[in-house]
Amino acid sequence: MSDFLIAPSILSADFARLGEEVDNVIASGADIVHFDVMDNHYVPNLTIGPLVCEALRKHGVTAPIDVHLMVKPVDRIIPDFARAGASYITFHPEASEHIDRSLGLIRESGCKSGLVFNPATPLSYLDYVLDKVDMILLMSVNPGFGGQSFIPATLDKLRQARQLVDDSGLEIRLEVDGGVKVDNIAEIAAAGADTFVAGSGVFGFGEASDANHYDSIIRKFRQQLVQGNSI
Ligand code: DX5
Ligand code: ZN
Repeated sequence: MSDFLIAPSILSADFARLGEEVDNVIASGADIVHFDVMDNHYVPNLTIGPLVCEALRKHGVTAPIDVHLMVKPVDRIIPDFARAGASYITFHPEASEHIDRSLGLIRESGCKSGLVFNPATPLSYLDYVLDKVDMILLMSVNPGFGGQSFIPATLDKLRQARQLVDDSGLEIRLEVDGGVKVDNIAEIAAAGADTFVAGSGVFGFGEASDANHYDSIIRKFRQQLVQGNSI
């Protein structure tokens, strides 16, 4: 596995300078923009919607935008995000009455689809829809807030998900979200993740829009991934 992708979560960025923050983090070598959508209903926090996604596209962001829906219900908002320029749209199975339909809706809208698993959500939700997902996102914290600690049980779950994906022969990214830092990313990669969301680990140092800082953080992530990969 060589194509590790780093997906900074803009939840921890300086929202007053979001376009600049995203430009800087992508210029520093990040691959994907992770876009956390919270509705104060499915999760106890409220963030950003399709207008902000569209604004980033209009600003000139061309990197893939990975929309992580923490909203309930999910279906109505899917076409809005597709129109706003989302690349991936992922949702939590507990938030949809009809998981297969929601996955279909995402692909029909022209986006890549994914399911998100809370720490206590079983992978069995994938049993009959594995061929309909382009991404499996394992939460390594409970959703709703940045800056929480990585839950170690996620490592075992990652190994199970990796096995599932490899056995299927399908092209599915395995993403991890929550508490990913320079000091644990190698272990997380070794457990099978190939796509790494990091919010506070990238933006959370009170040095908003300092491009040098982002360069150094992304470089450290990559170093860890290369070292971990060669063990
Ligand atoms: C939490 C969000 C995460 C969050 C991760 O509900 O889904 O994407 O931004 O933040 P950190 O990396 O700080 O744990
Ligand atoms: Zn997220």
